Amino acid sequence: MTGRGVVIVGASVGGTRVAAALREAGYAGALTLVDPDPDAPYDRPPLSKQILAGDWDAARASLGDPEEWGATRYVAAAAGLDPAARLLRLDDGTRLGYDRLVLACGAAPRLLPGMPLGGVHVLRTLADCHGLRADLDRIGDGRLVVVGGGFIGAEVASTARARGIDVTVVEAQPAPLSGLLGEDVAAELSLLHRDNGVRLLCGTSVAGLVGGVSVTGVTLTDGTTLPADAVVVGIGVRPATGWLADSGILLDTDGGVLCDEYCAADADHTVYAVGDVARCHDPLLGRHVRVEHWTNAVEQAAVVARAIAGPDPEPYRHEFFVWSDQYGGKITLLGRPGPGDETDVVRAGGPRRRFAVAYRRGARLTAVLTVNWPKALVVARRSMATRGDADDVVGSWKNL
Ligand code: NAI
Repeated sequence: MTGRGVVIVGASVGGTRVAAALREAGYAGALTLVDPDPDAPYDRPPLSKQILAGDWDAARASLGDPEEWGATRYVAAAAGLDPAARLLRLDDGTRLGYDRLVLACGAAPRLLPGMPLGGVHVLRTLADCHGLRADLDRIGDGRLVVVGGGFIGAEVASTARARGIDVTVVEAQPAPLSGLLGEDVAAELSLLHRDNGVRLLCGTSVAGLVGGVSVTGVTLTDGTTLPADAVVVGIGVRPATGWLADSGILLDTDGGVLCDEYCAADADHTVYAVGDVARCHDPLLGRHVRVEHWTNAVEQAAVVARAIAGPDPEPYRHEFFVWSDQYGGKITLLGRPGPGDETDVVRAGGPRRRFAVAYRRGARLTAVLTVNWPKALVVARRSMATRGDADDVVGSWKNL
């Protein structure tokens, strides 16, 4: 057995931020990073954008070298955990003891029946990105079907369209993100696809993939078959926690690790979770939340590093924020719209679709969506940090 000190499972943004923050806080003990991805650590946002487009090489997405943090790195997957013995087992047979364990192992893409099949891609790792890019090169101006109009789907559609590819997006909901944004706002947002020459089919799902060695089409639940030279599947993810099933660590039904407000997964605070895997108690909301966005992993990494290395632990206070780069512009969502929130939509002029939505409960601003309008976000952020008065924000937008 080797190790002790802090062992971090997962070398993506959450895990590497914990490592760096521990050293910044003066933690001088042993540090170990475990990740089966030979390319890690790298940042994921550019995978659906700059690297897929060929504008960046992979080095620009680097999250740093584990050696910088004096960390030992294992290219292996965590395969078992014995919290009582404080022992982590890796799939190559290595056994690592720990004083503190951080679960930052992220999530794995959901697959469609019939996968794997040539020409059908998910996009999670740098290797996935390189594989998809090579396939987009192969199909030239051919036909790409994107299954799922969420974040991966929309960003891949945008990047592929910019390369001149014929893109169809298939989305099961009435409009992409309608569960999050509400149907009317989601429908207006989805017009960005049409504005940019992408076909969007909503309210239909995929019945099957067609093809022998390689995909030739996608059959929808309404019986239509869409011809396809390549397919990208972005239908959501599931926390990569199957290996924890018998460990005694409490998992939610979706596989998320149940944590307290310090991101601790056990009573004596030896095991923590951050990022896509963590379902943490949010004291402000009064419930557990699991958030699959980059900023959340960064915030939780700071909470965990502080809980381990001091000075004093501070509870996790989540500020929901997500951005997405699509069709040369930026979409941001600050705060999370609630069921029954009313909306005010303010549209700005100009050649490209540009608008902002204030979600409100009475006078109180609860969330803000901005589409290609960075100034509207600046105004809303300022307001959310203070009084959060919806009328003030809407009035300011009208004067921008
Ligand atoms: P997602 O949860 O964002 O979107 C999945 C979409 O697929 C949903 O709209 C859902 O209704 C649809 N869907 C599910 N099953 C379907 C089916 N059978 N047929 C058609 N549509 C179906 O997940 P996504 O896009 O796969 O992204 C994976 C993860 O990566 C997420 O956690 C996401 O937040 C993250 N991500 C975040 C980005 C950002 O913050 N800008 C960019 C890219 C990914």
